[in-house]
Amino acid sequence: MDSLAPLLLGVRTSGAAPERLRAVVAGRLVVVTGASRGIGREVALRVAASGGRVVGLARGEQGLQSLQDEAAGQVEYLAVNLRETDAAEDAGRHIATTWGRPDIVVSNAGQSIHRSVTETFGRFHDIARTAGTNYLGPIAFLLPLLEVMTDAGAGQLISVSTTSVDMLVPNWSAYAASKSAFDSWLSTVAPELREKGVATTVVKLPRVATAMSAPTAGQYPVPELTVTQAADVICRAMIHRPRLVSPWWSRLAVLSRAFPAPFDWVFAQASRLGIRL
Ligand SMILES: NC(=O)c1ccc[n+]([C@@H]2O[C@H](COP(=O)([O-])OP(=O)(O)OC[C@H]3O[C@@H](n4cnc5c(N)ncnc54)[C@H](OP(=O)(O)O)[C@@H]3O)[C@@H](O)[C@H]2O)c1
Repeated sequence: MDSLAPLLLGVRTSGAAPERLRAVVAGRLVVVTGASRGIGREVALRVAASGGRVVGLARGEQGLQSLQDEAAGQVEYLAVNLRETDAAEDAGRHIATTWGRPDIVVSNAGQSIHRSVTETFGRFHDIARTAGTNYLGPIAFLLPLLEVMTDAGAGQLISVSTTSVDMLVPNWSAYAASKSAFDSWLSTVAPELREKGVATTVVKLPRVATAMSAPTAGQYPVPELTVTQAADVICRAMIHRPRLVSPWWSRLAVLSRAFPAPFDWVFAQASRLGIRL
C-alpha cells in the first residue's frame, strides 16, 4: 500500500537517485531546519550520504546528536528554538559566519495543531506559537542567509509546505494560517530573489507518516506518504529546481476560496454524521 501512495496522491517521487542528488549536493553546504526527526532528518541523511555538507537545526539536541552519529560526522548541527525570533535570526547569522553561504536551504521545521475554534477560546498562545514556528521564526532565520545568498547571486531555498494551505479543512486553522502566511511571503519574494540569482521552491506535501501526523493518523480516508517518499520529493526539487511542487488536486482545491458553498456543505454533512475532520 505504501508504494501506491504517491500514485494515489498525485505525487512524483522518481528521479531522485543518489547519483543525481550527488551531482547537485556533493561538497555543497545544505542547511536543513527540523532535522532532528521526520522528513527533515531523512533529507539531511540523504544529502549527507550524497556528499553534501549538512547543517541541521532543531530544538532537541538529542535528536540532532543522533543524526550526526548516523551520518558519520557528515552533519553538523545547531540547537535553536526557531519560535524565538531573536535566537532564530542569530542562528541564521551564525551559520553564514561559521559555515559560509549555503547552497541550499531546506526550511522544513514546523509544528501542527489540530484544534477547533471553540477549543481555542482562551488559548491565543496556540495561534502565537504556531505562527512563531511556521511563519515568523523561519523568516527571521532565513533573512541573514538570503542576504549572503543574494550577495553571491546563487543558491536555492526550498520551503516544505503543505496541501493544507490550498485545501482548508476545519480544525486546522492555526496550522493552515501560519503555513499560508509563510507561503505568501515566499511567493511574494520569489521573483525578487530570482532576479538576484536565488531560486525558490515551495513543496506542498500531502499527509506524511511522522510524529506530526501521528495524533490524527487513521482519521482521514486518504493514504499517507512515508518519510522516504517525502524526502524523495524534496531531493527531486534540489535536482530540478521547480518553482512549485504540488499535487494536481491541491491546485484545484484553491477553488474552494472562490466557491465556498459546496465545500461548506460537505463539511456540514461530515459534522452532522459525527465525523471530526
Ligand atoms: N507530516 C505531515 O503530514 C506533513 C504534511 C505536509 C507538510 N508537512 C510539513 O513538513 C515539515 C516537517 O514535518 P514532519 O512531519 O517531519 O514533523 P516532525 O516529525 O514533527 O518534525 C518536525 C521537526 O521540526 C522541528 N521543530 C519543531 N518546532 C521547532 C522549533 N520551534 N524550532 C526549531 N525546530 C523545530 C522538530 O524538532 P524539535 O522538536 O527537536 O525542535 C523536528 O525536527 C513541517 O514543516 C510540516 O508542516 C508535514
